[in-house]
Amino acid sequence: MECGDFSTFYTSMGQLPKVTWFRLDLYNWDGFWYLGHHLPGAMAAKSNFQAKDDDVLLTSSIKTGTTWLKAIIPTIMNPDGRKDDDSDDPLLKHHPNELMPSLELGFYKVNPNPDLSHMPSPRLFRTHVPYTSLPESVKTSACKIVYITRDPKDTFVSTWHFLNALIGDRGIDPWPFKDAYESFCNGVHAAGPFYDHVLGYWRESIKRPEKIYFMRYEDMKKDPKGEVKKLACFLGRPFEKEEEVEKVLWRCSLDRLKNLEVNQHGIDPWLGIANKHYFRRGIVGDWKNHFTDEMKEKLGQLTAMKFEGSGLDF
Ligand code: A3P
Repeated sequence: MECGDFSTFYTSMGQLPKVTWFRLDLYNWDGFWYLGHHLPGAMAAKSNFQAKDDDVLLTSSIKTGTTWLKAIIPTIMNPDGRKDDDSDDPLLKHHPNELMPSLELGFYKVNPNPDLSHMPSPRLFRTHVPYTSLPESVKTSACKIVYITRDPKDTFVSTWHFLNALIGDRGIDPWPFKDAYESFCNGVHAAGPFYDHVLGYWRESIKRPEKIYFMRYEDMKKDPKGEVKKLACFLGRPFEKEEEVEKVLWRCSLDRLKNLEVNQHGIDPWLGIANKHYFRRGIVGDWKNHFTDEMKEKLGQLTAMKFEGSGLDF
């Protein structure tokens, strides 16, 4: 089905299960929770987006390190991304969100059937939709998918900080940690349930490793060079020299990006969110600063249960 206006999507949205996630409405579509202002775009993209064979789609649930890859993938794909001279580096003027625009939060949020023919190939996009809700052409074409995930404990802590930063901008007090934690454990959060999201891409990446490259934030932190080299090979842009890998990693490093003018003071044109909120501590194990023993135990057991037999663990 191809749809030229949003009315069909708003009608179906009105019939979906709805809950409140802190002060925001979440709708359950095909087993996953979406923010009300993200869902019509996801439905439109599913109906109307036509993938090309050389597209690259970055996929993730939220707060798993996507921004890092939103910087790294365009830098790998850019013929000038590995050069010594940084003066033309697009990251100097653009938040990584702009270099890998979102399907549902970008083009398909403002127009259910946008004309993307002006985009030069290879086109780079990102999405938070789960594997099952991807546009059909993404699955059937030769386009490549990169998925990134992260320890659910750190993912949750990062989500909580991010939400609080957004509502803090509107003068709203932080969401009590315990309530947010319970919601996460129940799978009720944007792009949740987390475990189903991860498993959908994980299982598919095992079936089709040439199609889906599955990454973990912790592996990137531990061995960034090794991980980025593998990623570049997957994308068909292998590095020739060690200095090129170092250059890409430096350009995309948290320290550099968070201190750039565009990321300190800019606002995301699609989402209206301050760019600075995408860059925080970027460490593994920040959950230790927030969790009680009981919280650690409960989420640990949930993770073990959900991932049992899958070959995934954290
Ligand atoms: P923390 O909140 O733990 O600091 P996403 O990009 O999916 O929204 O995830 C956000 C997390 O990635 C945040 O984690 C953020 O600090 C971290 N991050 C953003 N840019 C990064 C980069 N260039 N390198 C490493 N981590 C980065």
